[in-house]
Amino acid sequence: MFEKVQIAPPDPILALTVLFKADPNPDKINLSVGVYQDATGKTPVLETVKEAEKRILEQENSKGYLPMTGEPVYCAQVQELLFGEGNEIITSKRAATAQCPRGTGALRVAGDYLNKLHPDAKIWLSNPTWANHNTIFEAAGVTCEKYAYRDAKTNGLDFDAMCASIKTIPAGDVILLHGCCHNPTGIDPTPEQWAIIGDLLVEQGVTPLVDFAYQGLADGLEEDRAGLLELLKKVKQLFICSSFSKNFGLYRERTGALTVVADSAEQASTVMSQVKLRIRYNYSNPPSHGGQIVATVLSDKALKAQWYEEVAGIRNRINEMRHLFVDTLKAKGVDQDFSFIIDQRGMFSFSGLTKDQVLQLRDKYSIYIVDSGRINVAGMTPDNMDRLCDAIKSVL
Ligand code: LMR
Repeated sequence: MFEKVQIAPPDPILALTVLFKADPNPDKINLSVGVYQDATGKTPVLETVKEAEKRILEQENSKGYLPMTGEPVYCAQVQELLFGEGNEIITSKRAATAQCPRGTGALRVAGDYLNKLHPDAKIWLSNPTWANHNTIFEAAGVTCEKYAYRDAKTNGLDFDAMCASIKTIPAGDVILLHGCCHNPTGIDPTPEQWAIIGDLLVEQGVTPLVDFAYQGLADGLEEDRAGLLELLKKVKQLFICSSFSKNFGLYRERTGALTVVADSAEQASTVMSQVKLRIRYNYSNPPSHGGQIVATVLSDKALKAQWYEEVAGIRNRINEMRHLFVDTLKAKGVDQDFSFIIDQRGMFSFSGLTKDQVLQLRDKYSIYIVDSGRINVAGMTPDNMDRLCDAIKSVL
């Protein structure tokens, strides 16, 4: 059985954390995996999460299975956060949500759904995109294509090229759009551009799948749904894969959701009946703990308000690091212009560092960055900034 098996290639993101942990250098810096670190370099458990866990520990009275689509209170909270309280999509029940193990699980379920119900549909991914998008959809048997996104000259969005790409997508295909805080570039369309994208998708007959893993990390929990809402003014049917890994810090609790928005309540529930089967054949029903935490916090007015503050703290710290990074490089006399990093949003930026420079940073300075040059800004701290910028200066 196993004699001829060859060693698998390392994961381009997660393997770096393994290397980082094994590195004995006390000054090592991890800017690879998208995990938030506070100013002391720790990945904290939010206060609201701690409080919710206390309540769950006291009140939980069963470890029986959740339904295949998870906890209904959680699913309702997911919709409220995505669309806003009282949104017509919620009141008309045009949306159906399944609790999934993180956004990754939601993406895989969506992939299985597409492969089963629309076997000819391809999925179009931004160039570049999260390193795991391709592999998830390919594993589900869905063919991946690329659409233009980043302008390498300006480090901004090449919106004309993106629109030109969309115009080539055949009817019946699916396009994956990042709801906000594009991973890996940190470059997002403006609300006006989202509206244009919506019009183009309607013209082309292309269905969006919105990967929404960073709500709250760009401008605010409510502000960050602006693009999605613009899209929904144009498009009646779409998929949303959302996650609470980043905005609740629930990384290891695998807390996400797949939401389907359809023409009518009846259509949404028909589609969800098919989604349910993909869940059953995959992992049967989702894990509970993270969903209970989210539902507990979001169902309690005071805890919810406190959580908004905690998310603002995460967002503000990341934005401060964006400024400090650019200023420190400038102060150290680095000529190359990194000011675009200030305009980018969320955890990541595409630094423009080459693979060779990234490898030098790893080998000589124990600074861990994904080969593509994507940096996790949330791994920068006031304490590691000087060392980081000195090292970058030396490899440029
Ligand atoms: C990332 O992009 O680093 C995160 O989404 C974590 C992961 O699983 O890759």
